[in-house]
Amino acid sequence: MNEFNIHRIREDFPILTRRNFNNKQLIYFDNAATTQKPKQVIETIVNYYKNINSNVHRGVHFLSEEATTKFEEAREKVKQFINADYSEEIIFVRGTTEAINLVANSFCKNKLNENDEIIISSLEHHSNIVPWQMLCECTGAKLKVIPIDSNGDIIFEEFIKLLSEKTRLVAITHISNAIGTVNPIEEVIKTAHSKSIPVLIDGAQSIQHKKIDVKKLDCDFFAFSGHKVYGPTGIGILYGKKELLENMPPYQGGGEMIQSVSFEKTTYNTLPYKFEAGTPNIAGAVGLASALDYITQIGLDNIATYEREIFEFATEKIQDIDGIKIIGTAKEKANIISFLLNNLHPYDVGAILDNEGIAVRTGLHCAEPLMKIFSINGTVRVSLAFYNTKEEILKLVEAINKAKKLLT
Ligand code: ALA
Repeated sequence: MNEFNIHRIREDFPILTRRNFNNKQLIYFDNAATTQKPKQVIETIVNYYKNINSNVHRGVHFLSEEATTKFEEAREKVKQFINADYSEEIIFVRGTTEAINLVANSFCKNKLNENDEIIISSLEHHSNIVPWQMLCECTGAKLKVIPIDSNGDIIFEEFIKLLSEKTRLVAITHISNAIGTVNPIEEVIKTAHSKSIPVLIDGAQSIQHKKIDVKKLDCDFFAFSGHKVYGPTGIGILYGKKELLENMPPYQGGGEMIQSVSFEKTTYNTLPYKFEAGTPNIAGAVGLASALDYITQIGLDNIATYEREIFEFATEKIQDIDGIKIIGTAKEKANIISFLLNNLHPYDVGAILDNEGIAVRTGLHCAEPLMKIFSINGTVRVSLAFYNTKEEILKLVEAINKAKKLLT
């Protein structure tokens, strides 16, 4: 087991030394929106553009070959990271949103009609709601939503009741970006599979915190974004089981995804290129691979242990503040604490925290339906990463108390 040295780790993240407009040291608690990048990732991207940049799968020249090798090595690294069987199961996309749209349009669109249903949960981010609504609009299929209880846990018996011979797919988040619920995806997958229903997991908020083993999970699709796992923006992954991807039509047309083109007929490329039309985000893929190397080197188990410790510490300290109401008290939660302070507007609280150099997210968190279920107009959201410290959490508590004094 590698040693988890928080001081050494923080030195890897140059941005953590930033100060705000009040000359306050940055305390970054907006990790669910995007994570910061270690210098190893930044340097990999700079090196790629300085020394390797060229297009992939095209040129005979040495640069193109080097770029292609790096790009395909990145795919292999992702494959190993999530324990997929084949590199063809790893599709480079822009992010979780594009991965879900790909499945909605390619796996579902041609097969659905008004007798079919897609199941999602009440905890979903807009990116795992809207693509399915768009699909339902053009096919007549119905969207069914698993309800949650007042803690923010899905009601499993209701999920079982929703499953029927009409269900074509279950698309569910692993961890809620808004309130931190960890869904029991293992049971969701097993239960859906017992009725031969495929399952897509939105892993945008879990890939950076938990070991993901797609083979063990047996999920049919798993989507995540590079920028939430210490990699660059604009790159993400759709994992899909090979036999499913092989039978899916291309999602976008263009270069790279074809085998041969004539004005009469085009034949498509094999996996994974069939789904990668156009020049891909090569530097993004290489940067993502570097981020996966980085966290592998620290050790996901070490990260999980440390994050659990600071998450429990933060939950305890925040809930002890007089006037705090934590939104979302699920049986299993991770890294995200959403709260309201008295009857103050989350934005006002966020603005005071910003004055103190503390970055949090306020508002609906791209989960408007979920906020409606709790009858609120948003929350203040603190989301943690392994470079956060207990000292930072204590400063947050101080700043929340200051906000309370100033605003009430
Ligand atoms: N999905 C991101 C968040 O929760 C943007 O903040």
